[in-house]
Amino acid sequence: MTEAVDRASVVDDYLVRALAIEDDALRAARAASHAAGLPAIEVTANQGALLSLFVRLVGGRRALEVGTLGGYSAIWLARGVGKGGQVVTLEIEPKHAQVARANVDAAGVGENVEILLGPAADSLDTLAATGGEPFDLVFLDADKQNNARYLAAALRLTRPGSVIVIDNLVRGGGALAAAEGTEGPAAAGAEELLALVRDEPRLTATAVQTIGGKGWDGFLLAQVS
Ligand code: SAH
Ligand code: DHB
Ligand code: MG
Repeated sequence: MTEAVDRASVVDDYLVRALAIEDDALRAARAASHAAGLPAIEVTANQGALLSLFVRLVGGRRALEVGTLGGYSAIWLARGVGKGGQVVTLEIEPKHAQVARANVDAAGVGENVEILLGPAADSLDTLAATGGEPFDLVFLDADKQNNARYLAAALRLTRPGSVIVIDNLVRGGGALAAAEGTEGPAAAGAEELLALVRDEPRLTATAVQTIGGKGWDGFLLAQVS
């Protein structure tokens, strides 16, 4: 297993280089986040590119992210929505939001990215109350135990055809723990989330396991109808 994970990481690095997935702006955002002491848990370059592609595949102009960190994935989302598009990203840590602000500005997408500071549950309530245009893609990547709650909010903030992506389903999101019968908040969170997806007639979903630069994990992909 370890050998597979290590080799997959080498392959991931190779593919990112061979396809020139990351440009200087993205590399600078990653480096600045690490230099500021933020945890190195942003999506990999290939995962960021996939997010960006998902936005483009649905012709998305508006994306919502829960969990900004240093704005690395937000830059990918901003590139997906394009020049006239908008990314709204939610972050609870002032320092993360501050680093993210600088990173998205430096990457040239500052005008397209709005960072809402505070607990995501509160910001999601505010967004629902404000009644703006629906989001075309929602990316859940914050405190995994609240994913079911964030998904319920996402359903209120989207339209038929919108896509919902949930990061870290297998590890932090608890599907591994649930599958192995390990009790605790991670497994309980996964079971609650998966039951909600299963029982929600408006969602068509799949769960994809991944292996690469961040080891073994996976994401949930769903479309709203
Ligand atoms: N999407 C980022 C990584 C996010 S890491 C990327 O790939 O580049 C998870 C982030 O969620 C952290 O910055 C953390 O501070 C934030 N977070 C955790 N709990 C939160 C909450 N309740 N509300 C909003 N943000 C939260
Ligand atoms: C970790 C990875 C993530 O993608 C994330 O959003 C949170 C934590 C981790 O590996 O710990
Ligand atoms: Mg993540």
